Amino acid sequence: MKNLYLSSAEFYDIDTYHLANHDIGFYLDYARKMLPGEPPGELLELACGTGRVSLPLAEAGFRVRGIDLSAPMLSVFKRKLSAAPREVAARVRLEQADMADFDLGRDFELIIVPFRAFQALTSEERVRSALLSIKRHLSPTGLLIIDLFRPRWRMDGSWASAVEQFDWSKTIRETGQTVVRSEIRRRIDTARQIIYPEIIYRVEERSGERTTVCEPLELRYYYQYQMEVLLICSGFKIEESFGYYDRRSTDEGSELIFVAGRGDREPGPLARLPPRARKRKEGTS
Ligand SMILES: C[S@@+](CC[C@H](N)C(=O)[O-])C[C@H]1O[C@@H](n2cnc3c(N)ncnc32)[C@H](O)[C@@H]1O
Repeated sequence: MKNLYLSSAEFYDIDTYHLANHDIGFYLDYARKMLPGEPPGELLELACGTGRVSLPLAEAGFRVRGIDLSAPMLSVFKRKLSAAPREVAARVRLEQADMADFDLGRDFELIIVPFRAFQALTSEERVRSALLSIKRHLSPTGLLIIDLFRPRWRMDGSWASAVEQFDWSKTIRETGQTVVRSEIRRRIDTARQIIYPEIIYRVEERSGERTTVCEPLELRYYYQYQMEVLLICSGFKIEESFGYYDRRSTDEGSELIFVAGRGDREPGPLARLPPRARKRKEGTS
């Protein structure tokens, strides 16, 4: 199965550090709103990976339930937990599970699917099944946050290219490895809206030994209205949408972030939503 970073989990954090750490504050804000109380409640992160988002949430005092299908990604997360203070590690519960079909036997006030992980589901059937599973786990007053990338390039045959694009080169202090990251845009399926990029890490060990690690990905892309229709038809009600973690409009920015409740959402916790969403709901803006 693709998209599980089976050969490259060890490089995931250095790859995403500069790109995506802006989202942590965004999720912390929602955790504070949706899980007030002392001690705070538990949130669910789907496809939690190496804990890039879950761990800072646990450090901030929130209990986190994380699921991911990738054993290598979870083992990076577990390694971080074993180095974390005991009370932080105790707030995190991890499980290897498929976000397209999971059953944790309870519901949550906050479910998050950060950094484009939802796009790893490429078949219609698995996408719908994931949204059904999520809905079953979202409390009547709860919120779901899904972050997708916004397709900004020309999504036609010109997206693909046999040319290997250099991204960055870094030395990992702890291991002494020098890693050069590049990407090849292998293929695009415009009918099914799936892109097939391949990430390539060329690694040089301290000893001088060289290896190449290839991670072929398969990601479904969505235009804003498509995700809106999908969420609404799956029984969600979209409360807010943003183009980036700083809450800019969906017309700008690299992301498409949807904040949704259940279609049958109870009105109470809207009082805990940001003022802009509250005003919209109350029809005062
Ligand atoms: C781009 S990473 C995001 C990880 C983390 N959420 C973050 O923001 O750093 C995508 C994650 O989705 C996981 N994944 C892919 N398909 C999955 C599936 N069907 N069920 C659960 N996790 C999945 C991968 O293993 C990987 O950890």
